[in-house]
Amino acid sequence: MPRDTTLLWGLRSPCAFACPHCYFGTIEEHKQAPPIEVGVLSHLSRTDLPPRALREFARTLAGSPIERVVIAGGEPLDWPPTLEVIELIKEAGCQVVIATNGIPLTRPPVTQRLIALGVDGVSVSLDSADARTNDRLRPSRSGRFGYDDVLSGIRSLLNARGDRHTPQVGIYTVVMRERPQEITDMARLANQLGVDYYVPQPISLTPDHKLFAELAHRREDVPGVAEQLARLYNEPSRLALPDPSYARRFVAAISTQEGALVPNCFGGARLFFIQPDGSVWDCPSDRRIAATPPEHRRSIRDADARTLFADRPACTNCSLFSRDCVNMWPLVLDMPQMLNAKAIR
Ligand SMILES: C[S@@+](CC[C@H](N)C(=O)[O-])C[C@H]1O[C@@H](n2cnc3c(N)ncnc32)[C@H](O)[C@@H]1O
Repeated sequence: MPRDTTLLWGLRSPCAFACPHCYFGTIEEHKQAPPIEVGVLSHLSRTDLPPRALREFARTLAGSPIERVVIAGGEPLDWPPTLEVIELIKEAGCQVVIATNGIPLTRPPVTQRLIALGVDGVSVSLDSADARTNDRLRPSRSGRFGYDDVLSGIRSLLNARGDRHTPQVGIYTVVMRERPQEITDMARLANQLGVDYYVPQPISLTPDHKLFAELAHRREDVPGVAEQLARLYNEPSRLALPDPSYARRFVAAISTQEGALVPNCFGGARLFFIQPDGSVWDCPSDRRIAATPPEHRRSIRDADARTLFADRPACTNCSLFSRDCVNMWPLVLDMPQMLNAKAIR
């Protein structure tokens, strides 16, 4: 079986940050009205799978078509069983990339374990190169953590890694309409910090989200974003970036209406999304999840990855475009290049 498939695995729901734009919604809103719709994410972890179920599924990845597992949340590294699951995924021969808010990297036992396990990539989220702006966009629940801790976590991991090739360390930045300049400001910060890769990605909100009007790009924002992306790709830098075609996709995504056609979509063919409750979807797009017929709903609970992903269809056109689609491209197509960039340089 060829190993050509990426799993985006939302392993755990809670997070120490309360980003108001988060895909997982806000705890405050969900305490008032817990989501009941299929596929809706929540930081309330009432239905998260227990560690044993996660470990059992991870063991079955050996010999499956899964090439790479991108572990996200919530916050995966605040929960000790995540490291056991990562160990099993690595033993199964998959690449592992972790998406983290960066705070757990300030704890030496965590960074040392990530290095010892041979984790391939650690993508740290930071939404502004300016400390106060970042901490406004990504507020800590307790008020105790912020930008300085994230930078200190990145530096600790880079120092602990030393001359080793892994993990490659990256920064992921959510680009919002008010601040296109973050695209190049963050690249400069990432260069100063000495990180290996950098991915700016457009904010993705449903039109009924209360922050849609304030944060989501409009047609008039497109030239400013396009100019920043052109500068990013033209300025000298030691950072690995997604393929230049990503810049075109980014601009197309914020210029396109929801529901447009995605040609040759890899969702459900070379990409699957696992929710913390174990539900398996073709991709994390809420539109695609909503369009999944009940008889096609699946779970990793008591499942074997070798059979779960055995009959994958070819990539097909999908008419459920959302801005989140562009955020999936680097995970599936650019990660191999970005994780190897230093070795090639
Ligand atoms: C949901 S977080 C989970 C992992 C970890 N807690 C973190 O902060 O990176 C994964 C990534 O999704 C991004 N993200 C969250 N909500 C988003 C949205 N509405 N649009 C685009 N990206 C978003 C985050 O900034 C982060 O880079």
